[in-house]
Amino acid sequence: MAKKKSEGYLSAKESRRISRENRKITNVFEKQRKRKNVPEEEYLTQMHDPKNAVEFDDLHTYFYTDAGTVKAVDGVTYEVPIGKTVGVVGESGCGKSVTSLSLMQLLQRPQGQITSGAIRLNLGDKCYDVTKAPDDVMQKIRGNIVSMIFQEPMTALNPVFRIGAQIEEVISLHDATGMNEEQMKARTIELLEMVGIANSEGVYKMYPHELSGGMRQRVVIAMALACNPRVIIADEPTTALDVTIQAQILDLLRNLKDKINSSIMFITHDLGVIAEMADYVVVMYAGRIVEKGTADDIFHHPAHPYTIGLMASKPVVGKQVDKLYSIPGKVPNPINMPDYCYFKDRCEMCVEKCNGEYPCEVKLSDTHYVSCYRYYDQRKED
Ligand SMILES: Nc1ncnc2c1ncn2[C@@H]1O[C@H](COP(=O)(O)OP(=O)(O)OP(=O)(O)O)[C@@H](O)[C@H]1O
Ligand SMILES: [Mg+2]
Repeated sequence: MAKKKSEGYLSAKESRRISRENRKITNVFEKQRKRKNVPEEEYLTQMHDPKNAVEFDDLHTYFYTDAGTVKAVDGVTYEVPIGKTVGVVGESGCGKSVTSLSLMQLLQRPQGQITSGAIRLNLGDKCYDVTKAPDDVMQKIRGNIVSMIFQEPMTALNPVFRIGAQIEEVISLHDATGMNEEQMKARTIELLEMVGIANSEGVYKMYPHELSGGMRQRVVIAMALACNPRVIIADEPTTALDVTIQAQILDLLRNLKDKINSSIMFITHDLGVIAEMADYVVVMYAGRIVEKGTADDIFHHPAHPYTIGLMASKPVVGKQVDKLYSIPGKVPNPINMPDYCYFKDRCEMCVEKCNGEYPCEVKLSDTHYVSCYRYYDQRKED
Protein backbone atom coordinates (compact mmCIF):
# COMPACT_ATOMS: atom_id res chain seq x y z
CA MET A 1 0.00 0.00 0.00
CA ALA A 2 1.23 3.48 -0.88
CA LYS A 3 2.69 5.45 2.02
CA LYS A 4 0.99 8.78 2.40
CA LYS A 5 2.89 11.95 3.32
CA SER A 6 -0.21 13.62 4.69
CA GLU A 7 -3.81 12.55 4.29
CA GLY A 8 -4.69 12.20 0.61
CA TYR A 9 -1.41 13.47 -0.88
CA LEU A 10 1.53 11.57 -2.33
CA SER A 11 5.04 13.02 -2.55
CA ALA A 12 6.56 13.30 -6.03
CA LYS A 13 9.07 10.63 -5.06
CA GLU A 14 6.40 8.25 -3.89
CA SER A 15 4.39 8.85 -7.05
CA ARG A 16 7.45 8.11 -9.23
CA ARG A 17 8.04 4.89 -7.31
CA ILE A 18 4.42 3.79 -7.89
CA SER A 19 4.70 4.70 -11.55
CA ARG A 20 7.85 2.57 -11.93
CA GLU A 21 6.20 -0.38 -10.24
CA ASN A 22 3.11 0.02 -12.41
CA ARG A 23 5.19 -0.07 -15.55
CA LYS A 24 6.75 -3.34 -14.46
CA ILE A 25 3.31 -4.87 -13.95
CA THR A 26 1.69 -3.50 -17.11
CA ASN A 27 4.70 -4.44 -19.27
CA VAL A 28 4.07 -8.09 -18.44
CA PHE A 29 0.41 -7.80 -19.50
CA GLU A 30 1.27 -5.85 -22.64
CA LYS A 31 3.91 -8.34 -23.72
CA GLN A 32 1.33 -11.10 -23.41
CA ARG A 33 -1.21 -9.10 -25.42
CA LYS A 34 1.11 -8.03 -28.21
CA ARG A 35 2.15 -11.54 -29.24
CA LYS A 36 1.57 -12.38 -32.88
CA ASN A 37 -0.14 -15.53 -34.21
CA VAL A 38 -1.69 -16.63 -30.96
CA PRO A 39 -3.16 -20.14 -31.51
CA GLU A 40 -6.96 -20.28 -31.27
CA GLU A 41 -6.86 -22.99 -28.56
CA GLU A 42 -5.56 -20.36 -26.15
CA TYR A 43 -8.74 -18.35 -26.18
CA LEU A 44 -11.22 -21.02 -27.19
CA THR A 45 -13.46 -22.06 -24.31
CA GLN A 46 -16.93 -23.42 -23.46
CA MET A 47 -20.01 -21.50 -22.35
CA HIS A 48 -21.27 -22.73 -18.98
CA ASP A 49 -24.79 -22.35 -20.38
CA PRO A 50 -25.26 -22.26 -24.17
CA LYS A 51 -28.37 -20.11 -23.68
CA ASN A 52 -26.15 -17.21 -22.63
CA ALA A 53 -24.66 -14.69 -25.03
CA VAL A 54 -22.04 -13.43 -22.57
CA GLU A 55 -20.79 -14.76 -19.24
CA PHE A 56 -18.66 -12.55 -17.01
CA ASP A 57 -16.81 -14.79 -14.62
CA ASP A 58 -15.02 -13.23 -11.64
CA LEU A 59 -13.76 -10.36 -13.77
CA HIS A 60 -11.08 -8.11 -12.29
CA THR A 61 -10.14 -4.96 -14.21
CA TYR A 62 -7.62 -2.63 -12.60
CA PHE A 63 -6.14 0.72 -13.57
CA TYR A 64 -2.50 1.15 -12.55
CA THR A 65 -2.40 4.92 -12.03
CA ASP A 66 0.37 7.08 -10.56
CA ALA A 67 -1.73 7.60 -7.45
CA GLY A 68 -2.20 3.87 -6.90
CA THR A 69 -4.17 0.93 -8.25
CA VAL A 70 -7.85 1.62 -8.97
CA LYS A 71 -9.81 -1.61 -8.64
CA ALA A 72 -12.52 -0.45 -11.02
CA VAL A 73 -14.03 -3.92 -11.42
CA ASP A 74 -13.25 -6.30 -8.61
CA GLY A 75 -14.75 -9.74 -9.07
CA VAL A 76 -17.85 -9.33 -11.20
CA THR A 77 -19.87 -12.41 -12.21
CA TYR A 78 -23.08 -12.31 -14.21
CA GLU A 79 -24.50 -13.51 -17.49
CA VAL A 80 -26.43 -12.00 -20.36
CA PRO A 81 -28.90 -14.56 -21.79
CA ILE A 82 -29.56 -14.62 -25.55
CA GLY A 83 -32.45 -12.37 -26.57
CA LYS A 84 -32.75 -10.73 -23.14
CA THR A 85 -31.95 -7.31 -21.75
CA VAL A 86 -29.78 -7.03 -18.66
CA GLY A 87 -29.88 -3.70 -16.87
CA VAL A 88 -26.73 -2.64 -15.02
CA VAL A 89 -27.31 0.03 -12.37
CA GLY A 90 -25.16 1.70 -9.78
CA GLU A 91 -23.72 4.98 -8.65
CA SER A 92 -21.34 6.96 -10.85
CA GLY A 93 -17.87 5.43 -10.79
CA CYS A 94 -18.95 1.96 -9.67
CA GLY A 95 -17.45 0.25 -12.73
CA LYS A 96 -20.38 -0.13 -15.13
CA SER A 97 -18.59 1.30 -18.14
CA VAL A 98 -15.31 -0.43 -17.33
CA THR A 99 -17.11 -3.82 -17.28
CA SER A 100 -18.47 -3.19 -20.77
CA LEU A 101 -15.18 -1.78 -22.05
CA SER A 102 -13.50 -4.96 -20.80
CA LEU A 103 -15.89 -6.99 -22.97
CA MET A 104 -15.00 -4.81 -25.98
CA GLN A 105 -11.28 -4.77 -25.08
CA LEU A 106 -11.38 -1.00 -25.32
CA LEU A 107 -9.76 -0.24 -21.98
CA GLN A 108 -7.30 2.60 -21.87
CA ARG A 109 -4.04 0.72 -22.11
CA PRO A 110 -1.42 0.20 -20.80
CA GLN A 111 -2.71 1.35 -17.41
CA GLY A 112 -6.10 -0.39 -17.73
CA GLN A 113 -5.74 -4.18 -17.62
CA ILE A 114 -7.91 -7.21 -17.03
CA THR A 115 -5.91 -8.86 -14.29
CA SER A 116 -7.96 -12.03 -13.82
CA GLY A 117 -11.26 -13.71 -14.58
CA ALA A 118 -12.94 -14.62 -17.85
CA ILE A 119 -15.48 -13.15 -20.24
CA ARG A 120 -17.01 -15.92 -22.32
CA LEU A 121 -18.60 -14.77 -25.55
CA ASN A 122 -20.95 -17.06 -27.46
CA LEU A 123 -20.26 -16.96 -31.20
CA GLY A 124 -22.87 -19.58 -32.03
CA ASP A 125 -20.65 -22.41 -33.24
CA LYS A 126 -17.89 -21.72 -30.71
CA CYS A 127 -17.03 -19.63 -27.71
CA TYR A 128 -14.13 -17.26 -27.04
CA ASP A 129 -12.67 -16.00 -23.81
CA VAL A 130 -12.41 -12.32 -24.69
CA THR A 131 -9.86 -11.63 -21.96
CA LYS A 132 -7.37 -13.85 -23.79
CA ALA A 133 -8.28 -13.04 -27.40
CA PRO A 134 -5.58 -11.15 -29.33
CA ASP A 135 -6.17 -7.73 -30.91
CA ASP A 136 -6.75 -8.94 -34.48
CA VAL A 137 -9.49 -11.32 -33.31
CA MET A 138 -11.06 -8.57 -31.21
CA GLN A 139 -11.11 -6.32 -34.26
CA LYS A 140 -13.41 -8.84 -35.96
CA ILE A 141 -15.58 -9.32 -32.88
CA ARG A 142 -16.13 -5.62 -32.27
CA GLY A 143 -19.01 -4.34 -34.36
CA ASN A 144 -19.79 -7.76 -35.78
CA ILE A 145 -20.62 -9.71 -32.64
CA VAL A 146 -20.59 -7.09 -29.91
CA SER A 147 -21.19 -3.44 -30.50
CA MET A 148 -21.50 -0.47 -28.25
CA ILE A 149 -23.73 2.58 -28.24
CA PHE A 150 -21.69 5.24 -26.50
CA GLN A 151 -22.88 7.65 -23.85
CA GLU A 152 -22.08 10.86 -25.73
CA PRO A 153 -22.92 10.92 -29.47
CA MET A 154 -20.86 14.02 -30.20
CA THR A 155 -17.65 12.29 -29.10
CA ALA A 156 -18.55 9.02 -30.87
CA LEU A 157 -19.03 10.74 -34.24
CA ASN A 158 -16.24 12.38 -36.16
CA PRO A 159 -17.12 16.06 -36.74
CA VAL A 160 -15.32 16.34 -40.09
CA PHE A 161 -16.93 13.43 -41.94
CA ARG A 162 -20.43 13.16 -43.36
CA ILE A 163 -22.88 10.81 -41.60
CA GLY A 164 -23.12 8.50 -44.64
CA ALA A 165 -19.36 8.06 -44.86
CA GLN A 166 -19.09 7.26 -41.16
CA ILE A 167 -21.73 4.54 -41.26
CA GLU A 168 -20.27 3.10 -44.47
CA GLU A 169 -16.87 2.90 -42.83
CA VAL A 170 -18.35 0.66 -40.13
CA ILE A 171 -19.97 -1.57 -42.75
CA SER A 172 -16.87 -1.83 -44.90
CA LEU A 173 -14.65 -2.64 -41.92
CA HIS A 174 -16.83 -5.39 -40.55
CA ASP A 175 -18.89 -6.77 -43.37
CA ALA A 176 -17.36 -9.93 -44.76
CA THR A 177 -19.71 -10.23 -47.76
CA GLY A 178 -17.87 -7.51 -49.68
CA MET A 179 -20.60 -5.08 -50.74
CA ASN A 180 -19.98 -2.64 -53.53
CA GLU A 181 -20.43 1.11 -53.11
CA GLU A 182 -24.05 1.18 -54.19
CA GLN A 183 -25.09 -1.68 -51.93
CA MET A 184 -23.29 0.00 -49.07
CA LYS A 185 -25.17 3.25 -49.62
CA ALA A 186 -28.47 1.39 -49.81
CA ARG A 187 -27.69 -0.40 -46.55
CA THR A 188 -26.75 2.92 -44.88
CA ILE A 189 -30.01 4.56 -45.96
CA GLU A 190 -31.89 1.49 -44.77
CA LEU A 191 -30.18 1.73 -41.37
CA LEU A 192 -31.00 5.43 -41.07
CA GLU A 193 -34.63 4.67 -41.82
CA MET A 194 -34.64 1.78 -39.39
CA VAL A 195 -33.66 4.11 -36.53
CA GLY A 196 -36.47 6.47 -37.48
CA ILE A 197 -34.69 9.25 -39.36
CA ALA A 198 -37.27 10.58 -41.81
CA ASN A 199 -35.00 12.53 -44.14
CA SER A 200 -32.51 9.68 -44.59
CA GLU A 201 -31.18 10.78 -48.00
CA GLY A 202 -30.56 14.28 -46.64
CA VAL A 203 -28.98 13.14 -43.39
CA TYR A 204 -26.71 10.82 -45.39
CA LYS A 205 -24.95 13.92 -46.73
CA MET A 206 -24.94 15.95 -43.50
CA TYR A 207 -22.20 16.54 -40.93
CA PRO A 208 -22.82 15.65 -37.24
CA HIS A 209 -23.19 19.32 -36.20
CA GLU A 210 -26.14 19.71 -38.56
CA LEU A 211 -28.20 17.16 -36.61
CA SER A 212 -30.12 17.51 -33.37
CA GLY A 213 -28.99 15.59 -30.27
CA GLY A 214 -31.71 12.97 -30.69
CA MET A 215 -30.82 12.46 -34.36
CA ARG A 216 -27.14 12.09 -33.52
CA GLN A 217 -28.00 9.46 -30.93
CA ARG A 218 -30.00 7.63 -33.60
CA VAL A 219 -27.05 7.75 -35.96
CA VAL A 220 -24.83 6.25 -33.27
CA ILE A 221 -27.41 3.49 -32.76
CA ALA A 222 -27.53 2.89 -36.53
CA MET A 223 -23.74 2.51 -36.54
CA ALA A 224 -23.89 0.05 -33.64
CA LEU A 225 -26.52 -2.05 -35.42
CA ALA A 226 -24.90 -1.92 -38.87
CA CYS A 227 -23.67 -5.53 -38.73
CA ASN A 228 -26.53 -7.15 -36.75
CA PRO A 229 -24.51 -7.73 -33.58
CA ARG A 230 -25.42 -10.53 -31.16
CA VAL A 231 -24.74 -8.32 -28.15
CA ILE A 232 -25.49 -4.61 -27.94
CA ILE A 233 -23.98 -2.62 -25.12
CA ALA A 234 -25.96 0.54 -24.53
CA ASP A 235 -24.02 2.79 -22.15
CA GLU A 236 -26.50 5.42 -20.99
CA PRO A 237 -27.83 5.90 -24.53
CA THR A 238 -30.56 8.28 -23.45
CA THR A 239 -28.99 10.32 -20.65
CA ALA A 240 -28.43 13.36 -22.86
CA LEU A 241 -31.94 13.33 -24.34
CA ASP A 242 -35.29 14.74 -23.28
CA VAL A 243 -37.95 12.32 -22.10
CA THR A 244 -40.04 12.11 -25.29
CA ILE A 245 -37.00 11.36 -27.44
CA GLN A 246 -35.79 8.99 -24.72
CA ALA A 247 -39.05 7.02 -24.89
CA GLN A 248 -38.74 6.83 -28.69
CA ILE A 249 -35.14 5.62 -28.53
CA LEU A 250 -36.04 2.96 -25.93
CA ASP A 251 -38.91 1.75 -28.11
CA LEU A 252 -36.57 1.65 -31.06
CA LEU A 253 -33.97 -0.40 -29.20
CA ARG A 254 -36.61 -2.85 -27.99
CA ASN A 255 -38.00 -3.36 -31.47
CA LEU A 256 -34.59 -3.72 -33.06
CA LYS A 257 -33.53 -6.22 -30.43
CA ASP A 258 -36.53 -8.41 -31.20
CA LYS A 259 -35.93 -8.09 -34.92
CA ILE A 260 -32.37 -9.39 -34.83
CA ASN A 261 -32.76 -11.44 -31.59
CA SER A 262 -29.73 -9.94 -29.91
CA SER A 263 -29.05 -9.37 -26.24
CA ILE A 264 -28.73 -5.92 -24.70
CA MET A 265 -26.54 -4.86 -21.82
CA PHE A 266 -28.25 -1.69 -20.72
CA ILE A 267 -26.15 0.57 -18.50
CA THR A 268 -27.85 3.44 -16.74
CA HIS A 269 -28.44 5.07 -13.40
CA ASP A 270 -32.06 5.73 -14.31
CA LEU A 271 -34.18 3.12 -12.53
CA GLY A 272 -37.27 4.11 -14.51
CA VAL A 273 -35.51 3.16 -17.75
CA ILE A 274 -34.37 -0.13 -16.25
CA ALA A 275 -37.90 -0.95 -15.12
CA GLU A 276 -39.11 -0.40 -18.65
CA MET A 277 -36.35 -2.23 -20.50
CA ALA A 278 -34.71 -4.95 -18.43
CA ASP A 279 -35.49 -8.63 -17.92
CA TYR A 280 -32.64 -9.00 -15.43
CA VAL A 281 -30.99 -6.39 -13.24
CA VAL A 282 -27.46 -6.25 -11.87
CA VAL A 283 -26.76 -3.73 -9.09
CA MET A 284 -23.12 -2.68 -8.79
CA TYR A 285 -21.46 -0.84 -5.96
CA ALA A 286 -17.79 0.18 -5.86
CA GLY A 287 -16.62 -2.34 -8.46
CA ARG A 288 -18.61 -5.30 -7.19
CA ILE A 289 -22.08 -6.72 -7.66
CA VAL A 290 -24.11 -6.32 -4.50
CA GLU A 291 -27.33 -7.80 -5.83
CA LYS A 292 -28.66 -9.42 -8.99
CA GLY A 293 -31.94 -10.93 -10.03
CA THR A 294 -34.89 -10.61 -12.38
CA ALA A 295 -36.44 -7.15 -12.74
CA ASP A 296 -39.26 -8.36 -10.50
CA ASP A 297 -36.83 -9.54 -7.78
CA ILE A 298 -35.01 -6.22 -7.74
CA PHE A 299 -37.99 -3.89 -8.02
CA HIS A 300 -40.45 -5.73 -5.79
CA HIS A 301 -38.17 -7.57 -3.37
CA PRO A 302 -34.95 -5.52 -3.13
CA ALA A 303 -32.70 -7.16 -0.55
CA HIS A 304 -29.41 -5.25 -0.32
CA PRO A 305 -29.55 -2.03 1.75
CA TYR A 306 -28.04 -0.17 -1.23
CA THR A 307 -30.77 -1.39 -3.60
CA ILE A 308 -33.41 -0.60 -0.98
CA GLY A 309 -31.90 2.91 -0.74
CA LEU A 310 -31.92 3.30 -4.52
CA MET A 311 -35.58 2.32 -4.68
CA ALA A 312 -36.45 4.74 -1.88
CA SER A 313 -34.65 7.60 -3.63
CA LYS A 314 -36.80 7.18 -6.75
CA PRO A 315 -39.74 9.58 -7.04
CA VAL A 316 -43.12 7.84 -7.31
CA VAL A 317 -46.01 9.43 -9.18
CA GLY A 318 -48.94 10.17 -6.86
CA LYS A 319 -46.93 9.80 -3.65
CA GLN A 320 -46.41 13.04 -1.71
CA VAL A 321 -43.11 13.37 0.13
CA ASP A 322 -41.40 16.46 1.61
CA LYS A 323 -37.96 15.32 0.54
CA LEU A 324 -36.73 12.37 -1.49
CA TYR A 325 -34.60 9.86 0.38
CA SER A 326 -30.87 10.10 -0.27
CA ILE A 327 -28.34 7.48 0.76
CA PRO A 328 -26.03 9.09 3.37
CA GLY A 329 -22.23 9.25 2.98
CA LYS A 330 -20.19 8.64 -0.15
CA VAL A 331 -18.55 5.82 -2.10
CA PRO A 332 -15.21 4.65 -0.62
CA ASN A 333 -11.97 5.76 -2.31
CA PRO A 334 -11.36 3.22 -5.11
CA ILE A 335 -7.60 3.21 -4.41
CA ASN A 336 -8.05 2.32 -0.77
CA MET A 337 -10.97 -0.04 -0.39
CA PRO A 338 -11.88 -1.21 3.11
CA ASP A 339 -11.49 -4.90 3.96
CA TYR A 340 -15.08 -5.16 5.22
CA CYS A 341 -18.35 -4.68 3.30
CA TYR A 342 -17.84 -1.62 1.05
CA PHE A 343 -21.30 -0.32 1.86
CA LYS A 344 -21.02 -0.69 5.65
CA ASP A 345 -20.07 2.94 6.36
CA ARG A 346 -23.24 4.18 4.65
CA CYS A 347 -25.51 1.38 5.72
CA GLU A 348 -28.38 2.02 8.09
CA MET A 349 -29.29 -1.65 8.50
CA CYS A 350 -26.03 -3.13 9.77
CA VAL A 351 -26.03 -6.30 11.82
CA GLU A 352 -23.31 -7.56 14.16
CA LYS A 353 -21.52 -9.70 11.56
CA CYS A 354 -20.97 -6.67 9.30
CA ASN A 355 -17.59 -5.99 10.95
CA GLY A 356 -16.27 -9.14 9.30
CA GLU A 357 -14.68 -9.46 5.86
CA TYR A 358 -16.54 -8.65 2.61
CA PRO A 359 -19.75 -10.75 2.59
CA CYS A 360 -20.01 -13.54 0.03
CA GLU A 361 -22.98 -14.01 -2.28
CA VAL A 362 -26.15 -15.45 -0.72
CA LYS A 363 -28.70 -17.24 -2.90
CA LEU A 364 -32.21 -16.07 -2.02
CA SER A 365 -33.95 -17.86 -4.89
CA ASP A 366 -33.00 -19.46 -8.20
CA THR A 367 -32.64 -16.05 -9.80
CA HIS A 368 -31.98 -13.73 -6.87
CA TYR A 369 -28.53 -13.29 -5.28
CA VAL A 370 -27.31 -10.74 -2.74
CA SER A 371 -24.00 -10.02 -0.97
CA CYS A 372 -25.06 -8.98 2.50
CA TYR A 373 -24.70 -10.38 6.03
CA ARG A 374 -28.36 -9.70 6.79
CA TYR A 375 -29.32 -12.77 4.76
CA TYR A 376 -26.69 -15.20 5.98
CA ASP A 377 -29.20 -17.26 7.97
CA GLN A 378 -31.43 -17.65 4.85
CA ARG A 379 -28.63 -19.18 2.82
CA LYS A 380 -29.75 -21.94 0.46
CA GLU A 381 -27.23 -24.46 -0.74
CA ASP A 382 -26.47 -24.38 -4.45
N1 LIG B 1 -8.65 5.44 -17.84
C1 LIG B 1 -8.81 5.37 -16.53
N2 LIG B 1 -7.77 5.56 -15.70
C2 LIG B 1 -7.91 5.47 -14.35
N3 LIG B 1 -9.06 5.16 -13.73
C3 LIG B 1 -10.15 4.96 -14.50
C4 LIG B 1 -10.09 5.06 -15.93
N4 LIG B 1 -11.32 4.80 -16.43
C5 LIG B 1 -12.11 4.57 -15.35
N5 LIG B 1 -11.42 4.67 -14.20
C6 LIG B 1 -11.94 4.48 -12.83
O1 LIG B 1 -12.70 3.30 -12.80
C7 LIG B 1 -13.82 3.44 -11.93
C8 LIG B 1 -15.07 3.00 -12.65
O2 LIG B 1 -15.35 3.87 -13.73
P1 LIG B 1 -16.56 3.68 -14.74
O3 LIG B 1 -16.33 4.57 -15.89
O4 LIG B 1 -16.76 2.24 -14.99
O5 LIG B 1 -17.80 4.22 -13.89
P2 LIG B 1 -19.34 4.15 -14.28
O6 LIG B 1 -19.97 3.20 -13.32
O7 LIG B 1 -19.50 3.90 -15.72
O8 LIG B 1 -19.82 5.62 -13.91
P3 LIG B 1 -20.83 6.62 -14.70
O9 LIG B 1 -22.19 6.22 -14.25
O10 LIG B 1 -20.44 7.95 -14.17
O11 LIG B 1 -20.59 6.47 -16.16
C9 LIG B 1 -13.83 4.89 -11.48
O12 LIG B 1 -13.33 4.93 -10.16
C10 LIG B 1 -12.89 5.59 -12.43
O13 LIG B 1 -12.21 6.62 -11.79
MG1 LIG C 1 -20.07 5.11 -17.44
